[in-house]
Amino acid sequence: MIFQILTDLEYGQLHMALDRATGLRAIVALHSTRLGPAIGGCRVYPYVDETAAVTDACRLARAMGYKAALARLPHGGGKAVIWATEAMRRPDFDRAALFTAFARFVDSLGGAYLTCEDSGTSTRDMDVVRKTTKHVLGFSTADGGSGDPSPFTALGCRRGIEAVCEVILGRKDGKDMAGLHVAIQGVGAVGRYLALELHKLGARLTIADIDPGRAERVAAETGAKIISIEEIFDVECDIFAPCALGGAISPSTLPRLRCRAVAGAANNQLASPTVGRTLQERGIFYAPDYAINAGGLINVAQEFAGYDAEKARERASGIYATIREIAERTQQTGRPPGEIADQLAEEIIAAGPQALAT
Ligand code: NAI
Repeated sequence: MIFQILTDLEYGQLHMALDRATGLRAIVALHSTRLGPAIGGCRVYPYVDETAAVTDACRLARAMGYKAALARLPHGGGKAVIWATEAMRRPDFDRAALFTAFARFVDSLGGAYLTCEDSGTSTRDMDVVRKTTKHVLGFSTADGGSGDPSPFTALGCRRGIEAVCEVILGRKDGKDMAGLHVAIQGVGAVGRYLALELHKLGARLTIADIDPGRAERVAAETGAKIISIEEIFDVECDIFAPCALGGAISPSTLPRLRCRAVAGAANNQLASPTVGRTLQERGIFYAPDYAINAGGLINVAQEFAGYDAEKARERASGIYATIREIAERTQQTGRPPGEIADQLAEEIIAAGPQALAT
């Protein structure tokens, strides 16, 4: 069964650990370490069975591998999953012992995998992990950690939008956003920073958020027009930027879009690959989420070399070139940007670490 999952995904290195004392059942999937140590979060989730846990780890490791490659990071993609049990929910459960056991597992991989926070884990858990292994990123800022990733994600996203402006919208200078209309769905941590970045460059904004306070704050800061979370899909605009939850572009919302491009920070924006193909057929360019939202990953990865915010900003700025290349190849071939991005990631991995700019 496990080999079948790996065969279907066409790659695979899988490590598993059981710690009876703490109840830890953990899986680490490594997509590739050709560009450097694999990087990827540790997720805690109550999987229905072993197959679900292995499949999730493998699928997410590959997504991380592509994301890291497109960001030109000297890292491969990996993922850890901890299979949550009922006992872990009890208030007296010793979470520190669980993460110490997990840290021993990560350490036993000798640096092939660098873990960090993901859904179900926190910076505090990573601080515990760090006591046992150095192969961890995303610890507290007090300890030299990289801190809030959102401004870096927003910066990368804004740079991606600049590339879209030039290649897809035919604007001469992507940094001159006068007259550009962007609709932002969700102005939380990333969406707000993105709104501030775009406003500074002269863009006109329409925003929607389920939390009225957040929308009002951003409107006061940027002059954005607030509309309801339902209306945001119908706005006639140049760019629609999903910055809320996953699955924003679905068979029901797609026909309503009146934009030339979708370029935002949310993860998993397309409800299915079919939606990506339909966007392409309708002449709407889609900036693949894992390419345009890599600024946060770039920021946390910078901890590996010794954290330097300026270097992280420089690298996040490089997302411009990645989106530009995807947009140009899309125009040349007519193929959906998601397929182009996957192919580009494979090419970067195959070219090896010497081809990465330092
Ligand atoms: P957040 O929780 O701070 O912001 C999300 C915002 O969307 C909130 O203000 C929320 O009220 C709003 N929202 C929720 N449902 C909505 C709806 N139906 N319509 C309109 N607004 C809605 O989260 P954050 O950190 O800003 O992340 C946003 C997205 O970007 C997520 O998909 C996240 O996975 C992704 N992302 C975030 C990164 C980061 O650095 N924080 C890095 C890469 C991806």
